[in-house]
Amino acid sequence: MAIIIMLLIFLAKVDANLSNGMSLNSHAACPENGKQALLNFKKGFIDEANRIASWDPHHHPDCCRWFGVVCDNMTGHILSLNLSVPPLDEDNLISRLTSKLEGKINPCLSNLKHLRFLDLSGNQFEGLLPYQLGNLSNLQYLNLGDNGLYVQSLQWLSGLPLLKHLDLSSMDLSRASNWLQLVNTLLPSLEELHLSLCQLVPGPPLLNLNLSSLAILDLSYNDFSNQMDLRWVSKLNSLVLRLYGNELQGDISSAIFNIRTLSELDLSWNDPEEKLPRAAGKLCKLRSIDLSGIRLNQDISHIFEILSVCSSLRLESLAFSSCQLSGQLTDQLEHFKNLKELFLDSNSISGPIPTSLGQLANLEWVDIGNNLLESVVSEKHFANLTKLWDFRGSNNSLVLRVNPNWVPPFQILDLDLGSWQIGPSFPLWLRSQKHLEYLDISNSRISDVIPRWFWGLSTQFRDGNLSRNQISGQIQYLPQSQVYFFVDLSFNNFSGPLPRISVGPNMGPFFAGFVKLSNNYFSGSLFHFLCYQGNDTLPMVALSLANNLLSGEIPDCWIKWQYLRVLRLDGNRVSGKIPISMGTLTKLQSLHLHNNRLHGEIPLSLKNCTNLVAINFGENELNGHIPGWMDHSLPNLIILILRSNKFGGNIPDHLCALSSLKILDLSNSHLFGCIPRCISNFAAMVRRNASRERSIIYNANIEDVYEYASVVMKGQFLEYGNTLNLVRLVDLSRNNLSGEIPQEVVNLQALQTLNLSQNHLTGKIPKLIGAMILIETMDLSQNQLTGSIPESISGSGKETDVKNRAKGIRKGREINWFYVSMPLGFVTGFWCVLGPLVFDRRWRITYYRVSTEMWWKAYDFVGKF
Ligand SMILES: *[C@@H]1O[C@H](CO)[C@@H](O)[C@H](O)[C@H]1NC(C)=O
Ligand SMILES: *[C@@H]1O[C@H](CO)[C@@H](O)[C@H](O)[C@H]1NC(C)=O
Ligand SMILES: *[C@@H]1O[C@H](CO)[C@@H](O)[C@H](O)[C@H]1NC(C)=O
Ligand SMILES: *[C@@H]1O[C@H](CO)[C@@H](O)[C@H](O)[C@H]1NC(C)=O
Ligand SMILES: *[C@@H]1O[C@H](CO)[C@@H](O)[C@H](O)[C@H]1NC(C)=O
Ligand SMILES: *[C@@H]1O[C@H](CO)[C@@H](O)[C@H](O)[C@H]1NC(C)=O
Ligand SMILES: *[C@@H]1O[C@H](CO)[C@@H](O)[C@H](O)[C@H]1NC(C)=O
Ligand SMILES: *[C@@H]1O[C@H](CO)[C@@H](O)[C@H](O)[C@H]1NC(C)=O
Ligand SMILES: *[C@@H]1O[C@H](CO)[C@@H](O)[C@H](O)[C@H]1NC(C)=O
Ligand SMILES: *[C@@H]1O[C@H](CO)[C@@H](O)[C@H](O)[C@H]1NC(C)=O
Ligand SMILES: *[C@@H]1O[C@H](CO)[C@@H](O)[C@H](O)[C@H]1NC(C)=O
Repeated sequence: MAIIIMLLIFLAKVDANLSNGMSLNSHAACPENGKQALLNFKKGFIDEANRIASWDPHHHPDCCRWFGVVCDNMTGHILSLNLSVPPLDEDNLISRLTSKLEGKINPCLSNLKHLRFLDLSGNQFEGLLPYQLGNLSNLQYLNLGDNGLYVQSLQWLSGLPLLKHLDLSSMDLSRASNWLQLVNTLLPSLEELHLSLCQLVPGPPLLNLNLSSLAILDLSYNDFSNQMDLRWVSKLNSLVLRLYGNELQGDISSAIFNIRTLSELDLSWNDPEEKLPRAAGKLCKLRSIDLSGIRLNQDISHIFEILSVCSSLRLESLAFSSCQLSGQLTDQLEHFKNLKELFLDSNSISGPIPTSLGQLANLEWVDIGNNLLESVVSEKHFANLTKLWDFRGSNNSLVLRVNPNWVPPFQILDLDLGSWQIGPSFPLWLRSQKHLEYLDISNSRISDVIPRWFWGLSTQFRDGNLSRNQISGQIQYLPQSQVYFFVDLSFNNFSGPLPRISVGPNMGPFFAGFVKLSNNYFSGSLFHFLCYQGNDTLPMVALSLANNLLSGEIPDCWIKWQYLRVLRLDGNRVSGKIPISMGTLTKLQSLHLHNNRLHGEIPLSLKNCTNLVAINFGENELNGHIPGWMDHSLPNLIILILRSNKFGGNIPDHLCALSSLKILDLSNSHLFGCIPRCISNFAAMVRRNASRERSIIYNANIEDVYEYASVVMKGQFLEYGNTLNLVRLVDLSRNNLSGEIPQEVVNLQALQTLNLSQNHLTGKIPKLIGAMILIETMDLSQNQLTGSIPESISGSGKETDVKNRAKGIRKGREINWFYVSMPLGFVTGFWCVLGPLVFDRRWRITYYRVSTEMWWKAYDFVGKF
């Protein structure tokens, strides 16, 4: 909340300055009718962030000084109204999401007769667009994109003959049948047309072209299949054509590759299964081509050959990611002298990287990751790449062999050499890279110590993956970052005490930390790490110290770690009790303390951690009762693992209130008494159809996402991609449970594993147990059960040992606890926000590097926690 407030203050200031700036040389005051129109317009929407606080006739009588308003300095006419919300980037990630205006567009806006520029993009205006806007006959620029509006028809455009720029992206135009004809007839001066994500249906082809000035046509994310006839486009002089994210199939070559005037072509993520046609060689004006995600199934040298015919010198951007390309890179590459961007990642390109890559002096951004490249890469490959700021080449079989004193010609920001062979020495040449933000040298056979300068290398450093090497030595402190901070040092040979952590002035308000130090040899106490100096809260979101040699008690400093969602201390030698202050971690979703030496009871304070999705306290020496408060207070709990402890007493009935539970493991303790009949209340184990519990988690996580970035996300989220298709398991084995197996157990129809073995259960096996048709493993052995195997399970009626029978049913699938225990809720929560960004190619160039990547990493990182 504090962040939002700060931000609002900041915004308000910026706004005031902006509007002052805009009207500094304004002489004529604002016209009364214009002011009234603006005030009426304002009544139609909510301005939660107070963006247009200056629209107040009492404090600012001159509406030409209002935010977003520009007047003619002689006549005072309102010429421009710009209330757009700027696109997402790192600096305004939050402002964008909090500063949307929400509501209806009042038709009175059409009284601003002199308006030439109207930009309301990126807000949350909804409902039917008032066609009166068609009365703004002086409009040259109209941007209503990225709102929630719809229209029945585009006939209202007839009043806007001067329009040069029209952006209706994400407006629902599915009812506007002859949109293309109308645009062509009514808007002859149009230069830019953006109709991305408009649910357009292709209309009849254009025969007489009026749109002779059109230079940019963006029809991405519509539902065109190949019925869309684009031949008319070839009559234009020069065109940027964006058609990504459609469903164009089959023969695209004749339609699009014959448009000789194309200067930019983005057909990425369409559906044709077709090779790049020779005709593409005649696109002599081409500066940029993006066919990513199209299954071209072609040899890369064939592609270079086609494009070399005429466009190679002009081409600045070549994107063929995920195109099923094969073959080898050759010196053809050197023809593309002006190339700035080269994306060939996620193909099957093999062989060496030619040194001619190093001659492409304009290269800024290269991604050749996820291929089958194999060779030694040397200084030569980078010889002239002075402008390179992003290079990604992970997941190949490449060997980097450079002089340790090499000073690269570039200052790189993002460098991904994951799985390259770089070691055994630490790459000392990195020392010259002062602007590094992202570095992946994971799994690169480094067995060395990290030089001290590394941690202070770049003040922008925020994402490092050095995992899966044999890096040894101690780490004194972790670097700080302004924005977000991911560091993965797992699976190395680091030793000594945990690094120091400091909360310093450098830490910006958007900081979010994800730190993974697991699987090393860190030893000693947790104290100085967790109870760092100072009283500030550390905005760390995920922390893993798992599988080290840490010992001593878990200190009681959790009050400083309020932002934690994932905490792993498992696999250490930590002793003592679970500290009470852990109950202050109210955002916590995933808590892993298993495989330590903890004793005592589970503290009552954990009742406050109502967001918990997974608890694993297994393999400790905890005692006392299974707490009765583990009930409605943990509505999101999916995983509860308390196995191999010293818990006594009954299994409390309260536990049955955990309706999201899918994994319950209480095995190997001293529990006694009966298995509670209410066991059939574990709703998530009863239902085979997972839709309801999905939505529970889903809702819980909108909240999480909200809190994490202090982001107000109202409105639609995508249905998330990852289904929670997880194991359902109940393991109560190796206790002292007695009595009969309750008949209710058969209601757990979604259960895959049931283990009640090694107890003192008596009586008969429930008759209908065979109804549990998803069961893969059932172990009832080493009890005192009597009677025969119910026919429902033995099928043929032949009597067998239940355990053997169950073994037969088992499909041999091991449960991967590591995977299961990932904090699903967290991941899916992020996914909701991520999905649309990650797959929206529009974001790529400008925003991918910063924000999207941050979200994506969060998803990816925690997914692998
Ligand atoms: C707004 O203008 C004032 C005075 O001109 C200046 O001190 C302040 O830094 C400006 N604020 C912003 C956010 O630009
Ligand atoms: C009025 O605005 C025009 C541009 O719109 C600018 O060239 C001119 O200098 C301005 N006049 C004054 C007096 O500020
Ligand atoms: C409106 O303002 C945004 C920045 O706030 C700018 O990117 C956009 O180009 C402006 N629109 C017009 C029509 O000037
Ligand atoms: C404004 O537009 C509406 C609807 O398009 C039309 O009925 C009306 O006559 C127009 N008014 C003026 C003054 O042009
Ligand atoms: C082209 O524009 C003119 C004038 O705007 C219009 O009269 C004519 O009908 C248009 N032609 C087509 C084919 O739409
Ligand atoms: C590595 O690249 C290959 C080839 O593109 C791909 O199939 C595989 O999934 C990639 N592995 C990872 C971990 O990304
Ligand atoms: C590459 O750099 C070398 C010197 O490092 C220079 O002589 C050569 O002209 C450069 N080539 C290009 C294509 O820029
Ligand atoms: C890292 O640890 C592993 C396992 O203990 C050991 O085999 C290896 O020699 C160590 N490597 C270095 C460089 O210390
Ligand atoms: C932390 O807070 C305590 C009590 O409010 C205060 O005595 C102490 O000086 C603070 N420490 C620092 C480093 O700010
Ligand atoms: C748990 O929450 C209750 C009420 O919200 C509060 O009174 C109590 O102090 C909290 N306990 C801990 C350990 O934070
Ligand atoms: C770091 O790299 C390793 C190996 O390439 C990978 O398994 C791991 O998931 C990466 N870590 C993160 C946080 O992405």
